[in-house]
Amino acid sequence: MRDRSVLVTGAGSGIGRAVSLACARRGANLAVLDIDGDAAEVVARESEAVGAPRAVGIACDVAAEDSVRSAFDAAAQAIGIPGATFANAGIEIDGPLHEFELESWRRVLDVNLVGAFLTCREAVRRLVETASGGSIVCTSSPSAFVGFAGGGNSAYAASKGGLSAFVRSAALDYASHGIRVNAVVPGATDTAMLVSGVAAGSRAATMERIRTSASEQIPLGRLARPDEVAAAVVWLLSDDSSYVTGTNLVCDGGLMAKSANDF
Ligand SMILES: NC(=O)c1ccc[n+]([C@@H]2O[C@H](COP(=O)([O-])OP(=O)(O)OC[C@H]3O[C@@H](n4cnc5c(N)ncnc54)[C@H](O)[C@@H]3O)[C@@H](O)[C@H]2O)c1
Repeated sequence: MRDRSVLVTGAGSGIGRAVSLACARRGANLAVLDIDGDAAEVVARESEAVGAPRAVGIACDVAAEDSVRSAFDAAAQAIGIPGATFANAGIEIDGPLHEFELESWRRVLDVNLVGAFLTCREAVRRLVETASGGSIVCTSSPSAFVGFAGGGNSAYAASKGGLSAFVRSAALDYASHGIRVNAVVPGATDTAMLVSGVAAGSRAATMERIRTSASEQIPLGRLARPDEVAAAVVWLLSDDSSYVTGTNLVCDGGLMAKSANDF
């Protein structure tokens, strides 16, 4: 990754932050994008502190076409055209289908699926124009492949199912350009997203409850740490995975390998 230019969306916290720091430690230049511009700036400074020669924080809403285009322009100006892009920004809004607001459904699809499309499109455009190969990784979810037993997950599942299908198709379209497109499929990971739908005052207690359930339900006996998911993403972003494209790399502690049947 040394002196490579890497762009990460949703990089202000959680998995995106961990990937930014992991790339920075390997000497990459970083464009750290987040809808929360202050958080992006903080992670950019952290990235330089751990080894990035240059890191820039950019406020960007991945669901907004102009915002994504200008963020890629700003990134190219600051660190050069990104040869590696991590389309990671995502949100989760849960609720029973019969009560679900159209506005919430649209926002989940807009951020998770349209956002990945806009991010990948800007990345691919520049790589095709400059005839340089590259690597793109999107963040999918087990919900792309299996239903969550907790329920109420239809919008998020639809967005991630669409994303995993999109990745396969885009990988085929750009293989001849030397552009690889893959998805990482993190299992339950210890980030703010796990309690994003919970009232602020109950988040710590809910997180503890989730950690306890994880120790009972996940074969490896715990939630993933963001840096464990980051290790898989860095591999996909780097030339170490030079023969891998169109895949969904599952990093879930064995969750999807397990049937709930116990008889
Ligand atoms: N945490 C998990 O258990 C888990 C499991 C599977 C997949 N994922 C996926 O991992 C990705 C990262 O989530 P995380 O767990 O690190 O959560 P997180 O909430 O810690 O990080 C998400 C980041 O995305 C940013 N963001 C939200 N909307 C945005 C937008 N419109 N434009 C740009 N940035 C935006 C947020 O500000 C935040 O910094 C998401 O795509 C999520 O769906 C998470």
